[in-house]
Amino acid sequence: MKYRNLALNELFRSNADRKHPFNYFTLATIGGYPEVRTVVKRQYTEEDTIIFFTDSRSPKVDQIKGDPRSSALFYHPRKKLQVRLKGHVRLIRQSDKRYTQFLNQLKQAGNLRDYSTALPPGSQITDLAQVFYGKDIFFCPMEMKVNYMDIVKLGKDVHHRYAYHLDQDGWEEKILTP
Ligand SMILES: Cc1cc2nc3c(=O)[nH]c(=O)nc-3n(C[C@H](O)[C@H](O)[C@H](O)COP(=O)(O)O)c2cc1C
Repeated sequence: MKYRNLALNELFRSNADRKHPFNYFTLATIGGYPEVRTVVKRQYTEEDTIIFFTDSRSPKVDQIKGDPRSSALFYHPRKKLQVRLKGHVRLIRQSDKRYTQFLNQLKQAGNLRDYSTALPPGSQITDLAQVFYGKDIFFCPMEMKVNYMDIVKLGKDVHHRYAYHLDQDGWEEKILTP
């Protein structure tokens, strides 16, 4: 599990280091086209889930409701390490005790405004002045449960690529041609 552990080390390290490149990832969902966007990784958990926050009105939420299969891409430029993850994304509802914890986290950081634009994200406007903030908060924490990892580490002479698949007995390792 050397390369899975290598990836996990970086993911867990990024939980505590705000400058770590794994604090951002590319989230891919299934829409009419493959849909990709940059998202802040709030936490990578011991249960192999990625926590991220979004606006409940954003198109990605509808895409995920239509098909929860998603991918996440992390890249560490200095270490030339690519981590591609696949899994299912679900909404963390208000009934989940973590919801309030995440909401408080946002309040403390003063970032609640990001989830309270009067118009839904992606709405066309003709002037920036039309972006104003309402009373309603459309905060939506989400969680991706990872079941597949594809890890590429570029070296000077040799490159390494490993795949990990989660089945009933745990994580299965495969060595791949890079
Ligand atoms: C550096 C950076 C960080 C971002 N972080 C988030 C985020 O944590 N959550 C989010 O919903 N959108 C985030 N965005 C905006 C998304 O990339 C995207 O534009 C927005 O969520 C709308 O996506 P959608 O139309 O596919 O739903 C971020 C954008 C940038 C450039």
